[in-house]
Amino acid sequence: MSKVGLFYGTDTGNTERVADLIKQKMGEDLVDVYDIATASADDFAKYDKIILGQPTWYYGELQSSWDDFWEDFKGIDFTGKTVACFGLGDQADYSEYFLDAMGMMHDIAVENGATPAGYTSTDGFEFDESKAVTEDEEFFVGLGIDEDQQPELTDERVDNWVEQIKEEFEL
Ligand SMILES: Cc1cc2nc3c(=O)[nH]c(=O)nc-3n(C[C@H](O)[C@H](O)[C@H](O)COP(=O)(O)O)c2cc1C
Repeated sequence: MSKVGLFYGTDTGNTERVADLIKQKMGEDLVDVYDIATASADDFAKYDKIILGQPTWYYGELQSSWDDFWEDFKGIDFTGKTVACFGLGDQADYSEYFLDAMGMMHDIAVENGATPAGYTSTDGFEFDESKAVTEDEEFFVGLGIDEDQQPELTDERVDNWVEQIKEEFEL
């Protein structure tokens, strides 16, 4: 069975913990995890099923190591690859920028040929604006996690999402 490549970035550790949780729930042997701070574009070439994770920082900005990697990221050809995104944010304190970086990351992957996977309902969240929602605002373009306001929901959200993307990845 082909493996899944998971690429994440983090400033204060929350996204790393969620990445580890996803790996644990999907299967330790199935998922290779990369910190984007030390990954290269060549690492992406090894996988046709890819998970991308990053928090949003400083009013709608990319996480710092994703920001450093961004030019390389924009050069990656995702044709033939299925990509599921997850993002961390704070829907109360940054309500006008909630999960923006997940949306930016998703959009590049899709522009570069990816088949998107892992969309989830926006039900259960309260925020004003996000670049990570579909046009009808009913879905996030990935999994939304809020460790600041709703940490008690993270485990169940990850559980459900892992089941969903296992199907979408045909694992
Ligand atoms: C100074 C600061 C700015 C933030 N800006 C945003 C933001 O614009 N949008 C958002 O959804 N969350 C924002 N957050 C929340 C973080 O994304 C959230 O705490 C996340 O869990 C951090 O992930 P990390 O530990 O992987 O870096 C911000 C948090 C801080 C402290």
